This record gives sequence, structure tokens and C-alpha cells, in this order.
Amino acid sequence: MLDSHFFSYTDGTLCCESVMLNELAAQFGTPLFVTSRQSLLAQYLAFEAAFTALPHFTCYSVKANYNLAVIRALADEGCGCDVNSGGELYRALTAGVAPEKIIMAGIGKSEAEIEYALTSGVLLLKAESVSELKAIDRVASRLGVVASVAIRINPNVTAETHPYITTGDSKEKFGIDEAELGEVFSLFRELPNLSLQGLDMHIGSQIFDPEYYVAATQKLLDVLESARHLGFDIKWFDVGGGFPVTYDPQKPATDITRFAEKLIPMIEGKGVTAIFEPGRFLAANASLILTRILYRKRNHTGKEFFIVDAGMTELIRPALYHSHHEVLAVTRHDRSIVADVVGPVCESSDFFARQRSIDDAAEGELLAVLSSGAYGAVMSSNYNGRLRPAEVMVDGRKVTLIRRRESYAQLVQNEV
Ligand code: LLP
Repeated sequence: MLDSHFFSYTDGTLCCESVMLNELAAQFGTPLFVTSRQSLLAQYLAFEAAFTALPHFTCYSVKANYNLAVIRALADEGCGCDVNSGGELYRALTAGVAPEKIIMAGIGKSEAEIEYALTSGVLLLKAESVSELKAIDRVASRLGVVASVAIRINPNVTAETHPYITTGDSKEKFGIDEAELGEVFSLFRELPNLSLQGLDMHIGSQIFDPEYYVAATQKLLDVLESARHLGFDIKWFDVGGGFPVTYDPQKPATDITRFAEKLIPMIEGKGVTAIFEPGRFLAANASLILTRILYRKRNHTGKEFFIVDAGMTELIRPALYHSHHEVLAVTRHDRSIVADVVGPVCESSDFFARQRSIDDAAEGELLAVLSSGAYGAVMSSNYNGRLRPAEVMVDGRKVTLIRRRESYAQLVQNEV
């Protein structure tokens, strides 16, 4: 079962909340990202309920879906933001998020980005190397401020997930190595414009087994003890994101309490406020891509193709991670066929599904590519001269256009 139940069939037509998807296609065209506001909020509330016993602050990792309306929907409920660049910081601030509810990550922040974060007054800058700490101190001293910093530790825990989204292993670029901690702690003593306020980690994404979090949290707790021993007053204990969602409706939905039950007893009573940075967990199942079947074809081997008007330019995850995304016909049919669902981009990796059983929909009908809310629109591109699609948000019966479709003129606007 998918983690959110806000896309379902009513009288044979797929709906988002109370709105029929074919009506949205008629009004806004395709391809179209459709986001359920109630799904976002339900996932956030489930997350909050699971961790309620622990003093904590949840910062939505906006890289999953940084549309202003998505950020706002979560911020309205009290959620903070985790940003990874000046651009994401700009988005969070533009959405109206208070700077003291924003934390900034990023292994390669430029001095300009550090300056932007410091002058905005973000809650924490998360640093990942000795050189970056020196850069933060330099910029802070130029601005005459003391920077509140969390250090991201590389806990050397290899979580089982796709190799492109594991980040807590010491062979990866992320975080500060255990062996460097001595030097890092001395730096905080020497450099007057740095204040060590937090410890941080992020071990990867789509991690199903809570034991990886347990192992990494234990390492972070060991660092907390060393830091306290040296006299540092650590307030924030950031466990990162990575909480999984179910992409395959045949599998059970994620029970986030399995993670909370393990983590709460480890962190409570330690005199810190935990930070969590869920991205996918909040956003993935809140959106789908509505796409129209342009053509159907069958080759000499009998293989069937649905050629649709969305592609890897809107959702690159199948090409990049071989990820599973459920594809449903918007209007139900009695008969199904086994087919590939492919896009218009000239790459063989431009597919949503391969050899999947799909309702026998005709050319001109609509398909929906589910679980496209996280790392979908944000990873979209103009490759092949494609226009980024429009996006709408549904809340009950209300529909709001939250991003206009790009135009040809926008494709060339920055070129001279
Ligand atoms: N915090 C940090 C520091 C991160 O780097 C990330 C994701 C998150 C939080 C949120 O992780 P989540 O809760 O969403 O798993 N494009 C890939 C995922 C890349 C994740 C990058 N970092 C995908 O489509 O699967």
C-alpha cells in the first residue's frame, strides 16, 4: 500500500482528493505534476506523532520538492527547512520560512552562500570539513558575527540502499572523518567566530532498516560525549533524513514508529534537541505526474509501448536508480496488457516502466506516474528542449496552480 491514500479511483476515474484527474488535464494540460496538500500534511503529522515523546525539530529537506507551495504547506504546520544551497535558502525565505527555522547543509558551500546564510540569520550551518570551517570563520569575522555551526560527522555506516544514495560510508565524500575530530575541536577553540552548537549526520536515503540509524546514532552519541568532555555546549543532535517510503503498492506502507521506537530511547535524556530532515517521507507519495498517451505501438516481437508526453526530463529516477513507479490509467479498463511506458526523449533510458501490466488505454487517454513528489520536479531538466511542466496543488476540491508551464521564450531567455 502506498503511504498516502489521497489518489484513488471513484467510479472508475482516478482522483486526487476530491478532484478527477481528467478534469485537471483538461484545464492545465499535460504533463502535469499534481500534488495533494492533504497527503503532505498527513505524512508530516504521522512523523510528528511518532517522535512526539522526544524534544525535536523537524526540518523538511526541501531538495525533495522545493516548490514554494509545498514548503509553505509544511511550514504552516510548524515544520522547519533543511536547505542545501543559496538557491534553496532563497526558496525557503521566499516561501516565508523564518530564518531561525532554517538549517543549511552542503558539502561545497561557496563563501557567497555562507555569507547569504549568515546575513539571513539561519539557525545552523552544517560544516563538512576543516577547510569549510575556516571559510565560515573568515566570512563570519568579515561580517562581525559568530556563526552557529553543527559539524556533520561521517559515522562510517553503510546503509543498505541504492549505492548512489548512501552517504554515511567513509568512502563517500560526506561528513567529517572520526580521525579529524581532534583538529576540528581545536579549531573551535582557536577561531573566535565559530560556535559549536550541534552534531549532525545523514547516512543516506530510502533506508528501510532502523538498525542503520541505531548504529550511526550511537557513533554520534560517542562524539557528543567527547565534545561535552571538552566543554562544548551541544544543543542540537541532527540525525538527518533518509526515512523510507513505499513505491510499490503491493508492499506495506512505511511505519515510521519503527524508527521512533529505536531512536527515542537513545536520544532522550541526553540534554539535546533532536533534528530530523525528512524529504522523501513527506513529499514522495504526495504527487503524481499526469501524462497523456501520444502513441501506442507494437513491434515485430509483439512488444507493446505506450509513448507518453512526460519523460525522464520530468522524472529521472527510473533512469538513474532503476526505481519503481506505479503507472495507472486514469480511466479504468477491464483489460490490461504488458507494455513499456516510455517518454519522448531520445534516450533508451527514458522510461517509466518496463514490461508492466497496464490497463489497455487508448491513444489520447491519460496515465498517472505515482510517487513522483520527491526528486521529481526538482530534478527535471530542459534536455531535448523540453519545457518544464506545470504543477498544481489539490486541497479537497480546491485546485491551485503552483507553477506555470514553461514557455519556449523561457528556454532561451538567458542566452545572448
Ligand atoms: N538531509 C541531507 C543532508 C540530505 O542530503 C538529504 C538527501 C536529506 C536530508 C533528505 O533525504 P530523504 O529524507 O529525502 O531521503 N535523488 C535521490 C535522493 C537523493 C537524496 C539526497 N540527500 C532519489 O531520487 O532517490
